[in-house]
Amino acid sequence: MRGIVKRFPGVLACDAVDFDIRRGEVHALLGENGAGKSTLMKILYGLYSHEEGTILLNGEPVSIRTPTDAIELGIGMIHQHFMLVDTLTVTENVALGLPSSRGPLLDLDRVAARIRELSETYRLDVNPDALVWTLAVGERQRVEIIKALYRGAALLILDEPTAVLTPQEVDDLFHILRRMTQDGHSLIFISHKLHEVLNISDRITVLREGKLMGTVPAQGMSRADLARMMVGRDVLLERNRSPVAQGSARLVLENVSALGVTGHESLRGVSLQIHAGEILGVAGVSGNGQRELAEVIAGLRAVTSGWVEMDGLDVTGQAAGERTQTGFAYIPEERMHDGVVREFSVSENLILQDHTRPPYSKGIFLDFAHIAQHSQELVRNFRVKTPGIETPTKSLSGGNIQKLILARELARLPKVLVAAQPTRGVDIGAMEYIHQRLLDQRETGTATLLISEDLDEVLALSDRIAVMYEGRVMDIVKREETSAEELGLLMAGVYPER
Ligand SMILES: Nc1ncnc2c1ncn2[C@@H]1O[C@H](COP(=O)(O)OP(=O)(O)OP(=O)(O)O)[C@@H](O)[C@H]1O
Ligand SMILES: [Mg+2]
Repeated sequence: MRGIVKRFPGVLACDAVDFDIRRGEVHALLGENGAGKSTLMKILYGLYSHEEGTILLNGEPVSIRTPTDAIELGIGMIHQHFMLVDTLTVTENVALGLPSSRGPLLDLDRVAARIRELSETYRLDVNPDALVWTLAVGERQRVEIIKALYRGAALLILDEPTAVLTPQEVDDLFHILRRMTQDGHSLIFISHKLHEVLNISDRITVLREGKLMGTVPAQGMSRADLARMMVGRDVLLERNRSPVAQGSARLVLENVSALGVTGHESLRGVSLQIHAGEILGVAGVSGNGQRELAEVIAGLRAVTSGWVEMDGLDVTGQAAGERTQTGFAYIPEERMHDGVVREFSVSENLILQDHTRPPYSKGIFLDFAHIAQHSQELVRNFRVKTPGIETPTKSLSGGNIQKLILARELARLPKVLVAAQPTRGVDIGAMEYIHQRLLDQRETGTATLLISEDLDEVLALSDRIAVMYEGRVMDIVKREETSAEELGLLMAGVYPER
């Protein structure tokens, strides 16, 4: 790609960017939220047009106007947000949109056989007959990979493929990717996790505000080097957690059980307390009840036994909205789904749930001047990159939508906060800021439940750490008295010898 220029209203998303990828290479694309990574890749995949610049394939200029053009040239893309149809099988999803699927003679058995073959070659472990809605996130992603391979992709673009995966699933994915490069596939890999980028890539290209900062070999680079290239300053990779005197118990769960999405008991007699000024981290392999725990506290999932107390008040029977009034804030894991209304403007999303109350409304009217001022302030403080507060939320980059939700929830100055995967998908500068906000909030007396798959994050922020396994709390340990090794054992359901 040479001299690629792309503008959106109010934004120069790609400012004469040069990018190249070699056969059999993993090339990582790095940059802050809104730097233009997805945009550059959507241009390569024919989803966006570009105003200037050329794309060359094997030295020949090519014209890529639609994804069909891209696919014909052997380019595939796995999006930041999956694009599968839940109610169809894997085979049907793969067949969807193939030229033959428009004819009367679509042979699904042949498609299924080829899926098995690809699954075998790259050890993707995908069952062609499974219905997509029954699959875990990691499996869905492998279906997307199969879909691209089926269409003959020699160059595969992976836009933040690891953001939604557990550490174990990331390892599996990396094995698959290595097998693909050995076969001569070229891979473009986007991630905000610098250790992953250093682990998997051959070369790294850094973008900042639509501009190319440089392309470097991964060999010999450190996380700090990359962070500096991305952000343009030194980024603190360590957190400074000062001691805070802890107050009374603000969140109490007593013997709470609940059913999970599948109808099985997913929380089994969980008891815990979080005090004012305390962060309780929850570690554990995802799917061990963390999600249900968060939902029970938020009032989005009914308990089958036990009770929940906030600030001394029994809230077990309260609806989610009432809990918000009590001083509760929730950063949900599935933020794109549960956290924003995509069609609403940035400022509308910033006052969701609070819009009927002062200071945002006067009587039955909204106070637009106040809303605008409040929105401007949040956008500035949380560095949400947007042309303005009236911009539709759906045109923001993935990480900036995440920041918007965090801004709204933290601005409530909650007494009790549940933060699920709070830094998923945000860049390293924003991660630094969010961590600092969570620690500041702690100093003002918020009781925080932090659920994260990132063990480094849990260790950096928590006062105590609860480890969940099969719906139970295995143990709650003090941060100072534990280690990654001990937590690892507990996460696997094993009590370490002490
Ligand atoms: N469809 C669109 N309409 C308007 N503006 C857009 C659109 N897509 C992207 N932008 C803007 O272009 C810029 C680059 O966005 P892009 O999605 O490429 O960022 P990114 O580097 O992928 O960020 P992230 O790490 O958050 O995913 C952002 O300022 C974004 O708001
Ligand atoms: Mg993106």
